[in-house]
Amino acid sequence: MNYRDLFVKELQRIHDANTYKYETPFTSPQDGVVIVKGKKVVMMASNNYLGMSNHPVVKKAAIEGIKEFGYGMASVRFLCGTQAIHLELEKKIAKFVGTEDAILFSSAFAANNAFFPSLFNERLGYENYHDVIYTDGLNHASIIDGMRLCKSETTDKKIYKNNDIAQLEQMLDADKNADYRFRIIATDGVFSMEGSYAHIAELVDIAKKYNAILFVDDCHAIGVVGKSGRGTPDKFNVLGKVDVLSGTLGKAIGGALGGYIAGEKKMVEYLRQKSRPYTFSNSLPPSIVMASIAAFDLLTKDKSIVKRLHDNTAYFRKEIVSLGFTIIGGDHPIVPVMLGEASVAQEMSKALLKAGVYVKGLWFPVVPKGEARLRVQISASLTKKNIDHALNAFEAVGKKLKVIST
Ligand SMILES: Cc1ncc(COP(=O)(O)O)c(C=O)c1O
Repeated sequence: MNYRDLFVKELQRIHDANTYKYETPFTSPQDGVVIVKGKKVVMMASNNYLGMSNHPVVKKAAIEGIKEFGYGMASVRFLCGTQAIHLELEKKIAKFVGTEDAILFSSAFAANNAFFPSLFNERLGYENYHDVIYTDGLNHASIIDGMRLCKSETTDKKIYKNNDIAQLEQMLDADKNADYRFRIIATDGVFSMEGSYAHIAELVDIAKKYNAILFVDDCHAIGVVGKSGRGTPDKFNVLGKVDVLSGTLGKAIGGALGGYIAGEKKMVEYLRQKSRPYTFSNSLPPSIVMASIAAFDLLTKDKSIVKRLHDNTAYFRKEIVSLGFTIIGGDHPIVPVMLGEASVAQEMSKALLKAGVYVKGLWFPVVPKGEARLRVQISASLTKKNIDHALNAFEAVGKKLKVIST
């Protein structure tokens, strides 16, 4: 066998042993209802929390962006990839989330990959000191990869059990006399497999007590959580008290692409100099920048959008439980419907699609064995009729598969 055949065979072997992702293409815009194989189905799997992916105001701004500022930037930020609108968007994000400043990246994945190594691998004059990151066991892959990029000779990485504040405090206490340069606590604001929240207010207190910096990835919270959609600090009444927030423009805020880190001005200035995905990767195109500005403006002016998302979520959560399904999480639009076995989740997802509901399953290794689930995601773009259609489909399919009793 030649090398190429061996290469393909090995990839096939690993793929076949571990296949749990499948794609279901559709032919319409991302919205409350999409078209799959010519048929309308209710979308309950997207991060389009506010329905902005196909919102006329957001689309108009994207088109204006192309007309006025062109299609692409053909540059990284510091060469010639910064237009006034990039700076305007950064200011807008900072104001919205309650920090001094913000810096854009091509995605939140890139932002998280940028943040950790740019802070921890630069050690001018501090070569002999260690840094430490305390990280929640359920943190997103982009935080994990960001930490992996930090040199292990000088960065200690300590994992605490998901949301186990007592364990985190024990770790911080045990290290309180250690000669660390930086101490950072890193957590997702919302854990996206569970639809649960990090204990942000307690984390703010603990970080303060132990002189640690608090980093919160608010990707599933920006535009989603809190009365005005400002994220987990909004919900837990600690706006302006989280040191570093990362977030995405690829979910509630238009749903295209882009991410940011928000925090102190000096830190943002530092990241503009030191973070490699910022320095060595292209600047966001004007269409996305303009659309994101419009999305933040819309969110600030029209409070009814977030309210609709929260109302839709409360309605779905209440009704799905009354049908006899088991769900987890508190009040977030991510609603994991617990099914146990992977085969049930797979079958149910397929049957629901046939019944006109687009929802995806998660199973091992994405979630622990025996905790397979369908991850429903609610959007402001869903009408009551859409949600009722989905609930009826859940009831019929759930009874057929004996997940709920008849
Ligand atoms: C918690 C969290 N962080 C980061 C990301 C990455 O966001 P982006 O799509 O902007 O790269 C995601 C997206 O799935 C996420 O859920």
